[in-house]
Amino acid sequence: MREHGVLKRVRLIYAEAIRRIDGNEDVPPETVIDSAKIIRNFIEDYHEKLEENFLFPRFKKAGKLVDLVDVLMQQHQAGRKVTDITMQFATNQALKNSDDRRKLVDSLRQFIRMYNPHEAREDTVLFPEFRKIVNQNEYDSLGEDFEKKEHELFGEDGFEKMVDKVASIEKKLGIYDLAQFTPKI
Ligand SMILES: [Fe+2]
Ligand SMILES: [Fe+2]
Repeated sequence: MREHGVLKRVRLIYAEAIRRIDGNEDVPPETVIDSAKIIRNFIEDYHEKLEENFLFPRFKKAGKLVDLVDVLMQQHQAGRKVTDITMQFATNQALKNSDDRRKLVDSLRQFIRMYNPHEAREDTVLFPEFRKIVNQNEYDSLGEDFEKKEHELFGEDGFEKMVDKVASIEKKLGIYDLAQFTPKI
């Protein structure tokens, strides 16, 4: 599920916003609000809905990884509440107020702290196991359904557009250029 790459890049944007707020540097509020919107539309209302409607029930039915699925589900719900808070405090006005700035940073930190292990567990445990509990036919046809849904919701090049949006936010925050992260050794 390539959506995880978008989720990861938004976490990197959030981390840069936290770094700037902690260092009393300027954060254009739209960088955070636009990122939170990507999370809401593309991750929570699309990617996680697919997991909840098509993956989790198959695990429950197969009696596999049931405890993990329960926690992942609770984390989806918690993530939505965190995004509500992020959206509430990612404004010019809130960023000028130290209490509100703290609340924004807390919600960004909570999001990163939860989704790092959440996503890693899905990639290394849930998705590999999913391949085992559905047959190849079902796996392929689900893949096609997901792609159709993506095109329906976001257009034919929906994924690419989402990546472009993320890239333009990264550019505003100066974290787009990949080479800057190579250690000088
Ligand atoms: Fe998930
Ligand atoms: Fe996921």
